[in-house]
Amino acid sequence: MTNFMFKMLEKEGVPTHLVEEISDRETIVKKVSIVPLEVIIRNVAAGSFSKRMGVEEGKQLLCPILEFSYKNDDLGDPFINDYYALALGIATQEEIDTIAKYAFKVNEFMVKFFKGLNIDLIDFKIEFGKTADGTIILADEISPDTCRFWDSTTHEKLDKDRFRRDMGGVEEAYQEIMKRLMGE
Ligand code: TMP
Repeated sequence: MTNFMFKMLEKEGVPTHLVEEISDRETIVKKVSIVPLEVIIRNVAAGSFSKRMGVEEGKQLLCPILEFSYKNDDLGDPFINDYYALALGIATQEEIDTIAKYAFKVNEFMVKFFKGLNIDLIDFKIEFGKTADGTIILADEISPDTCRFWDSTTHEKLDKDRFRRDMGGVEEAYQEIMKRLMGE
């Protein structure tokens, strides 16, 4: 699914780590050092945002939110802003600007693309890497593990929240996303 999305995003002008898919299980990717930021975009209130802000899940936001967490398991990936990232040397201003530009581009493309599959893109998390020459590219993955996908008609959850919230039907939901992606 990640390769499928990354191929389309490359065409939209977002550079990615994708080099070549060599089998169902193996992909050659560019070597990067991951920028230790979880880059989250939210279109609709859900998850930790709803909890933190007391906003009911499903409320459409007036504009997309860009959010950063510092990737650090010991600290539980704390919520940070640009100033934390700059002050701690996590990223430079130029890198943050590039990351924000690409993240909104990814969002704009994915919202439209998934709407065409009758899926609302609620929010997602992406990660970026730096190549040896310092270029910022999209890395890691885009999948129902890292996105909230709700069926536009039924509002059924078609993502990892089914697992996180012990709702059952995890595999079926992932297969449903894959089926719609493949146009089946
Ligand atoms: P959140 O509402 O729990 O902060 O999650 C926001 C989005 O980020 C959601 O689509 C799930 C994704 N996500 C990850 O991919 N990995 C993570 O570790 C977390 C916390 C969220």
